[in-house]
Amino acid sequence: MNVVILAAGMGKRMQSALPKVLHPLAGKPLLQHVIDTARRLSPSKLCVIYGHGGAAVPEMVGKLALDSGAAIDTALQQPQLGTGHAVMQAVPQLDEDAPTLVLYGDVPLTTEQSLRSLVEAAGNDKLGILTVEQANPFGLGRIVRENGRIVRIVEEKDASDLERAIREINSGIMCIPTRHLKRWLAALSNNNAQGEYYLTDIVAQAVSECVEVVSASPSAEWEVAGVNSKVQLAELERRHQLNIATALLEKGVTLMDPARIDVRGELICGRDVVIDVGCVFEGRVELADGVTVGPHCVLVNAKVAAGANIKPFCHIEDAVVGSKSQIGPYARLRPGTELGEDVHVGNFVEIKNSQVAAHSKANHLAYVGDATVGSRVNIGAGTITCNYDGANKFRTVIEDDAFIGSDSQLVAPVTVGKGATLGAGTTLTKDAPAGKLTISRPKQMTLDGWTRPVKVKK
Ligand code: UD1
Ligand code: CA
Repeated sequence: MNVVILAAGMGKRMQSALPKVLHPLAGKPLLQHVIDTARRLSPSKLCVIYGHGGAAVPEMVGKLALDSGAAIDTALQQPQLGTGHAVMQAVPQLDEDAPTLVLYGDVPLTTEQSLRSLVEAAGNDKLGILTVEQANPFGLGRIVRENGRIVRIVEEKDASDLERAIREINSGIMCIPTRHLKRWLAALSNNNAQGEYYLTDIVAQAVSECVEVVSASPSAEWEVAGVNSKVQLAELERRHQLNIATALLEKGVTLMDPARIDVRGELICGRDVVIDVGCVFEGRVELADGVTVGPHCVLVNAKVAAGANIKPFCHIEDAVVGSKSQIGPYARLRPGTELGEDVHVGNFVEIKNSQVAAHSKANHLAYVGDATVGSRVNIGAGTITCNYDGANKFRTVIEDDAFIGSDSQLVAPVTVGKGATLGAGTTLTKDAPAGKLTISRPKQMTLDGWTRPVKVKK
């Protein structure tokens, strides 16, 4: 099968410099949603028609093709003279022996299942149209039937009052026998209300040549809804998020409110996962059995092991959280953080590019960067690893069972030995030996007979 994706329109109503099909839905460009769905049908040819937005669209498509190792053709449509004219640009690249499925780059949520039912209905020699009954069909092409059979499609602007009353609409998604397509496209005229070459006019041609025209319908209207404005984009985003939330619920995940979760990527959950409101998941996030995520957390490319508890307002990115760990509230785990089992990271603690082994704790106000932290280490409040001298970064090593007194600075590169204790307020510039107390604080003293100065009267 060939797939042609129309994406040349300019999307004026988006009021944006970004080409319409590159606007993200669930963090992914609209066009990528369409390409991803199309690819699940294993097409032999995939061609994207672009026009507005300069090189941005073919660049994005080229990158997708490169990442996946499967070719995607692009064809420029300039100027944009209608949907029929758009498909014409792809014709030289199409395999004549296989049908051609036409998709729109701005219709992101069509399911693989609906496309398969259309492709099946069309087979190799019929013209298939994905149609839907719409309560408000205004602006869309109407499916004109005679004795139940489709005879043509009429656009809103060309329709009579009687035709405008028809509620079955053309989604725009069609499956066309390719060997007829070239001839039908060549015969199109732009003698209509919009002066465009309508792809929809091939339907009447098929009927006149006794090529059977069939229809299939999607499970719901949103599957064929297009994005022309930010309002429609926001509506489809909500619909898509609700679909994702429903799928998570069906798999047994507890969502405190399915209307208040945003998944912009892939969220993989084990059994008995609980997610509170307002969380955002980006990239690939894995939550193992029994994980709970408190309200208003952001997790990006993260892996959270079984039984861990992410408390409210945490930001976790490119990080691994060990089983039964307690994170937050208000913790930040930055890229390269790997926490072992039962690690406690409390409020206003930032960890970056560091490994923290089992049962260690940093419960309050600390920065741990470029550090290797052993097991059962206690990092006191206000501790900072000084990992950066303004030019280079250095590692801090804290061995098992060390105790770092509050408000210490560890000036890397530096090592705290196994079981060592740092007194509060220590500025550690040399290694602290294992098992001993190291303290850099000046000795405390008290001056007898000292009095406070008094204000001199003038
Ligand atoms: C088209 C259909 C209409 C259908 C509606 C569904 C035609 C003539 N009409 O309407 O029956 O109900 O879609 O939304 O086909 N595009 C190009 N190049 C062009 C024109 C359009 O690539 O020259 C692309 C657009 O980017 C968009 C899609 O084709 O992705 C549909 O174009 P749009 O103008 O939104 O649809 P209509 O022509 O109004
Ligand atoms: Ca449209």
